[in-house]
Amino acid sequence: MNTTTPSIKRPRLLMTGIPPDDVKVYTQTFFDLTIWQEATPIGAQLLDRVAGMDALVVMPGDKLDVATIAALPASVKVLGTYSVGTDHVDLKAATAKNLHVFHTPDVLTEAVADLALFLIIAAARDTSSAEKTLRDERWGRWAPSSMLGRSLQGLHLGIFGMGRIGQAVAARARPFGMSIHYHNRSELAPDQAKGASYYATLDELMACSDVLCICAPSAPELKGAINAHRLALLPQNAMLVNVARGDLMDEEALFTHMSLGRLSGIAMDVYRNEPNIDPRWLALPRTTLLPHIGSATREVRSAMGMLVVDGVASHFGLGSGGHCANPA
Ligand code: DGY
Repeated sequence: MNTTTPSIKRPRLLMTGIPPDDVKVYTQTFFDLTIWQEATPIGAQLLDRVAGMDALVVMPGDKLDVATIAALPASVKVLGTYSVGTDHVDLKAATAKNLHVFHTPDVLTEAVADLALFLIIAAARDTSSAEKTLRDERWGRWAPSSMLGRSLQGLHLGIFGMGRIGQAVAARARPFGMSIHYHNRSELAPDQAKGASYYATLDELMACSDVLCICAPSAPELKGAINAHRLALLPQNAMLVNVARGDLMDEEALFTHMSLGRLSGIAMDVYRNEPNIDPRWLALPRTTLLPHIGSATREVRSAMGMLVVDGVASHFGLGSGGHCANPA
């Protein structure tokens, strides 16, 4: 008599980036997991590697455009992205192919807002140049006139995109004495706005912002929204912070604007064409540059992984549910 217990066949999942260990172990409780381990993004190899997989979880830098989604093998039943942003995934194409796309809202809100506040302070105090002075051993004697920045107290913080992250940035900036102004698709209810002033147009928000903090999701109609016309509306010596997506900015216009000396500071976590950013960024004065680390805390990256894996697993009747970006 054959006493071998038939092995239960688990669905096969391809993840295109290396998750924290706890997420890897958790994923393996549901899936037969394959991880793209290379240092470079999976790119065009995705379609080869996904052959025979039941599920696919991509990273924010991996494009799932119309053509890629159309070419996914029929074995793939569900998609996930290790991000809240879904701008790299064509949700319409996924829906048309009956593929749900799970993502990671909420769990990263506070971490991204923490980093935004750090960047606001970095832009106002130009901590990047000050640190460079120290590291280059150019730190001379203390002088009342050297390494001066701007006080946050009394400045107008303009928040472009007052969703979860925008509201969390506002909550952090208020105790620093900043007044909060925002532009959003629609005006928030008073209990969410908490006294912040609403501007129906982005132009109006730009004109009143001493610090503009970009928190809006990247939607096709918002690409390049921070353009030459709008940058010119900012008050002289304004500052710009971006924790959302690089393609919301017209970088060419920004470089020109900086060269005219119209901004007193920039602090960025996101860029066009990451990670191969325009080299002109590196030469910009009074600029703090971080490599897209808004959600990069141990706790948050684990929570994001668990959430997206739970979502994808829910397709197979496993896990504890997730957030679908394209509910049917
Ligand atoms: C997201 O989740 O969309 C972030 O940008 C990646 O941390």
